[in-house]
Amino acid sequence: MDTFAFIIHPIDPKRDVSRKFPFLGRVLSERQIDFFSTFFPPVYISEIEGITSVSTGKQVKGWFVAAPYTPRRMLELPERVVYRKIIQTGHMAERLGAQILGLGAFTSVIGDSGVTIARSLDVPVTTGDSYTIAIAVQAIREAAHLMDIPLRNATAAVVGAAGTIGRVCAELLAEDVARLYLIGRREDALVELREQLTGPGGCELMVSTKMDVLTNAQLILTVTSAVHDVVIRPEHLQPGSVICDVARPRDVSAMVAAARDDILVIDGGMVDVPGPVDFHFNFGFPPGKCYACMAETIALALEGRFEDYTLGKHITRERVDEITAIAEKHGFRLSGFRSFEREVSPQQIEAVRQNARKRA
Ligand SMILES: NC(=O)c1ccc[n+]([C@@H]2O[C@H](COP(=O)([O-])OP(=O)(O)OC[C@H]3O[C@@H](n4cnc5c(N)ncnc54)[C@H](OP(=O)(O)O)[C@@H]3O)[C@@H](O)[C@H]2O)c1
Repeated sequence: MDTFAFIIHPIDPKRDVSRKFPFLGRVLSERQIDFFSTFFPPVYISEIEGITSVSTGKQVKGWFVAAPYTPRRMLELPERVVYRKIIQTGHMAERLGAQILGLGAFTSVIGDSGVTIARSLDVPVTTGDSYTIAIAVQAIREAAHLMDIPLRNATAAVVGAAGTIGRVCAELLAEDVARLYLIGRREDALVELREQLTGPGGCELMVSTKMDVLTNAQLILTVTSAVHDVVIRPEHLQPGSVICDVARPRDVSAMVAAARDDILVIDGGMVDVPGPVDFHFNFGFPPGKCYACMAETIALALEGRFEDYTLGKHITRERVDEITAIAEKHGFRLSGFRSFEREVSPQQIEAVRQNARKRA
């Protein structure tokens, strides 16, 4: 049977360490977990079984392996130290027999987004970012439809637009909407992106390094690599707007969402997996669902494409289209909407719309 492995890591230190080591998660503080993680070896998490392609009937099995660092620790430590730990975790995947390896969350953000890691491993590597882009854009389109926001006349924003995932999301959304804000920290990189995206008949593109322009946007796709800041605040948001938060750690805190009952915040990147999958590990999703980046790795295994797939900071549109076709062929689909790990019901959407009308 063909195989894959996927590297995960703790994001919220206490919550995520408790998922595998309940006692340590209870007794250690966040800072202690961060400190000890430096000396912790890679951790075997679980075997994944039951994935079955809907078109070919092929089954694959895989493994979760964990690099013990949190995003904050990955940014604090020297890059070579972080690479070393991720590569050690990759070697664990090789020993298990994985034929392709996916890099989860921050293991794909660090440094050159997988290029150095792939060079140091025999197993082919993918970051999963191509399918993450496809699913994030599908989610915001679908959410716009549910909230009765006509895409053609809409004003949208991509936060973290100069990033690996953000720039292709911006490229795709620019084809759908009337106005698009490209938001980030480096104005020069955003201006360069605007030049690249400007074409005949395209949407109006605006650049900003300030979040307050978000009050103009009805649709916000946020995908920064911030770990310390609350990137988006309640006062930044227009009644009735939709935010698709793809970032992990999140760009929109639960507190922000709780302060505004007139906006819809959805988790970006959740996908239905084909077949009776059992991950044998609770990573916070309901049964049968996974992150889009995991889905990319699994879809490549189902397709028998054991090659370095998405690597580096410059992802092409062609890759996004190709992985979308592969994933859809095998039965992966954008999953229903969730917000802070809870399902969004039609009643909630209606309540948001009513609250927005009142506020407006
Ligand atoms: N949900 C999923 O399935 C999934 C899959 C993969 C990745 N992710 C998440 O997606 C996020 C982005 O990944 P990436 O590979 O695109 O990272 P990246 O290439 O590092 O891009 C991140 C962008 O965010 C910007 N940024 C960082 N802090 C900011 C702040 N405080 N305010 C505004 N902009 C800020 C960066 O600006 P500079 O250019 O100035 O550095 C950069 O342009 C990460 O959180 C990652 O964990 C999620």
